[in-house]
Amino acid sequence: MSETNKEMNKDEMKNMPPMNGKPNGKGAGRPPMPKAKKGTFGRLMKYVFNGHKYQLIVVAVCILLSACTSIAASASTQMIIDDVITPGIQVGKVLGFEAGMDSVWGDLMGIVTMMIVVFAFGIAASFTYQRIMAVVTQRTLMNFRNDMFNKMQTLPVKFFDTHAHGDIMSTYTNDTDAIRMLVGQSLPLIFQSSLTVCSLIIMMLKYSLWLALAVAAFVLIMLKVSGKVAGSSSKYMMAQQRALAAEEGFVEEMMEGQKVVKVFCHETQSKEDFDKINEELFEVSEKANRNANILMPILGNIGNIMYVSLALIGSILVYLEVSNVYLFGVDKLSIGIVVTFLGMSRQLSQTVAQISNQVAIIAMGLAGASRVFELIDEEPEQDEGYVTLVNAEKDANGNIVETEKHTGMWAWKHFHAADGTTTYTELKGDVQLENVDFGYTEEKLVLNDISLYAKPGQKIAFVGATGAGKTTITNLINRFYDIPDGKIRYDGININKIKKADLRRSLGVVLQEVNLFTGTVMDNIRYGCLDATDEECIAAAKLANAHSFITRLPEGYNTMLTGNGASLSQGQRQLISIARAAVADPPVMILDEATSSIDTRTEALVQDGMDNLMNGRTVFVIAHRLSTVRNSKAIMVLDHGRIIERGDHDQLIAKKGVYYQLYTGAFELE
Ligand SMILES: Nc1ncnc2c1ncn2[C@@H]1O[C@H](COP(=O)(O)OP(=O)(O)O)[C@@H](O)[C@H]1O
Ligand SMILES: [Mg+2]
Repeated sequence: MSETNKEMNKDEMKNMPPMNGKPNGKGAGRPPMPKAKKGTFGRLMKYVFNGHKYQLIVVAVCILLSACTSIAASASTQMIIDDVITPGIQVGKVLGFEAGMDSVWGDLMGIVTMMIVVFAFGIAASFTYQRIMAVVTQRTLMNFRNDMFNKMQTLPVKFFDTHAHGDIMSTYTNDTDAIRMLVGQSLPLIFQSSLTVCSLIIMMLKYSLWLALAVAAFVLIMLKVSGKVAGSSSKYMMAQQRALAAEEGFVEEMMEGQKVVKVFCHETQSKEDFDKINEELFEVSEKANRNANILMPILGNIGNIMYVSLALIGSILVYLEVSNVYLFGVDKLSIGIVVTFLGMSRQLSQTVAQISNQVAIIAMGLAGASRVFELIDEEPEQDEGYVTLVNAEKDANGNIVETEKHTGMWAWKHFHAADGTTTYTELKGDVQLENVDFGYTEEKLVLNDISLYAKPGQKIAFVGATGAGKTTITNLINRFYDIPDGKIRYDGININKIKKADLRRSLGVVLQEVNLFTGTVMDNIRYGCLDATDEECIAAAKLANAHSFITRLPEGYNTMLTGNGASLSQGQRQLISIARAAVADPPVMILDEATSSIDTRTEALVQDGMDNLMNGRTVFVIAHRLSTVRNSKAIMVLDHGRIIERGDHDQLIAKKGVYYQLYTGAFELE
């Protein structure tokens, strides 16, 4: 990774999360705060609505009902005071206490029953929309995760070279969680709250224009204040999500490298590095969230001022009304209306506060969505290949024809657009590199004018110092990277024309770095060829000389492996990976330091097995031990991306050049 960083341009570096324990410095040269991209919300909504249109209509109706019921509750106060209690008192004054009570009681019961029914509706509506939203939200997240994972599978190797893995992980965890809060919680709440605010204001207008205008003025002030306060924090949300991802990346790296950390007594240093990253996360999170706590008290107090003002104005107006003073243009107010107004204003200020509270969650959700979309929008690995690998057989005339059956014979199906014909070329495993130049970045060439050929059944070895470019050559044959200059031909076909999946299917690769997946030993061997039978897997294991150690495992081939096969030795893991390549039975094998962790004796045994395995196959082998490459058809000595010597073992020894020195002197390249 560090090697890569060096060659990346500065802008790219700035946008990368801190890595390798070296967090971005504070203060000077800090990149501008990243923001959620425009259009993110619309795109997010498309995801939410996708496949959920009808559910969301039901949700909207339920929210509407739910908002109506809360308004009805407020409105009932006015009815109770003005239509029940006040007339009741009048009746009581004229006809006596008993009659007054009777009149109040009957009407009161009616209103209470009505309210119970309304509330029951409200509760049912809330319950229904919460349930539906939970499903909609979770399904939306599932769609997001699916899309992210599908995209990830199509990304080129380069993407993983240049992104910290913890950072990618974080989109699946932190960012989707931020989306969950936005979609599942904030949006319905805001919808409901906005409805409530609107209907409250309309109700108020109906009761008293002047009081309603006073309330509207207060609401505007509250919204303005929230906009200012929350707006200043929301711009830190994207930074927060990034910092969170960086921290996750660091923790992951430390977990994977815990042995190295311990061996080099790096605990203190790691802790310091972590502190820096953690500090950075704290800083942006604090900025992003600091106002969340200020907002409530501010809005609460504005609400209180509004309450008191309304009480004052209302009382004066009622007093004037009772005293029969007529003021031009001022509404007639009853006590019931003033009391209702006060209740409504309380409800209104709480609702506005609720909306404001969501701003931070929305900003965080959008930041999360923005990062998720970044991943989904990554440029997938390009594959303009059209030559495919098909099952083939020879017809009566000896011509190769395509067949549905699994014949064990494969052919490249090559359609020629120029004359509309299709030709079939037998898959043999003939590989040819012609004047290949390549660099991982434009500035630095790693391979220079490499030309070589390997005929079917030949074993070609690469030797040379670390960093000479041996692995790079195999990366190109795999088409993990594309070459700017030169050609690579496979059975005479330019590999750029071959569909990547088919090309890779025809190559068996064993790397020094072994990746075992969670599953049994058998599953891991079968990874090489999904329809291999148990017998075929065991035969492959025997070939790789892995059989004997596997049978000694507690549950043999059914032993579960976890944590990249942590319970096995490095050499055992390599043996499994060789078996995995063997089961695929490809015509071309690439062994990149595949036996580096295996002891010399086992290696000799594996070598025997492999010689069987190599029979009739083209093999590219990279090995530190020159004894391994000795019997190769041709040995290429690489130095700084150039082939400086080539020939078989005897020729190179006779030449008394670099290979000779390696062989007789150090013996092992290091
Ligand atoms: N993914 C990568 N991105 C950028 N540079 C790389 C990458 N992988 C290898 N390199 C560079 O390419 C050169 C050759 O590397 P490699 O082929 O892996 O050497 P080796 O001969 O040890 O297998 C080295 O200088 C290395 O720094
Ligand atoms: Mg290498």
